[in-house]
Amino acid sequence: MRILITAGPTREYLDDVRYLSNASSGLMGYALAEAVLVAGHEVILVSGPVALTPPDRCEFHAVETTEQMRNACVTRFAVCDGVIAVAAVCDYKPRNRIAGKIAKTGEGISIEMIETDDVLAELGRQKGTRWVVGFALEAENARANALQKLRAKNCDLVVLNAPSVIGSVATSVELIDFTGCTLSSLSGSKQDVARAVLDWIEANVSRSG
Ligand code: CTP
Repeated sequence: MRILITAGPTREYLDDVRYLSNASSGLMGYALAEAVLVAGHEVILVSGPVALTPPDRCEFHAVETTEQMRNACVTRFAVCDGVIAVAAVCDYKPRNRIAGKIAKTGEGISIEMIETDDVLAELGRQKGTRWVVGFALEAENARANALQKLRAKNCDLVVLNAPSVIGSVATSVELIDFTGCTLSSLSGSKQDVARAVLDWIEANVSRSG
């Protein structure tokens, strides 16, 4: 299979030097890329800025903003069998990016924010015969919210995790399928979780090489 993986955070710029982002390390997405390659599949990795080196054998696209991630994913999904969306994508961006640098005024400022593109939802709408795996980062009503995201984004599987795992080496997840069943709960390294997600994909989706 050829698998598209999104990883890391995105950045949304307020001006030319300041941005909004989040603490995603990219560890989970890069662990998945490595596991997928080790299992003999191809990887197209679309990653926001992280302090990690992408695996040699993958096709790598470095992006910063959500729009760049969306554009790279839409283009490359066309040649993939499926996607695993691990990226911690910024949900909002400033309505206007100011050219140069916003100067201090001596008073508070307000910034109008608008929603970014939902990359996974767009790939879910386009998927056709391909498969789609999403992650869900949930602070409360975790299972119900994760299942709602799976349905809204047309995923085959959702990997539920908690905000506490952002940036950590170990993680704790539940795999939930489209029937709403929790297939497994596991805690361990991000490599262990990557292997479990890949096992589900290999067992449940048709292979095309
Ligand atoms: N995702 C995406 N594009 C976005 C937002 C999220 O591709 N603009 C993907 C993530 O990579 C993940 C899934 O959608 O696979 C769920 O992300 P999550 O942050 O848990 O949820 P959101 O859809 O952003 O919703 P909310 O922040 O309200 O929980």
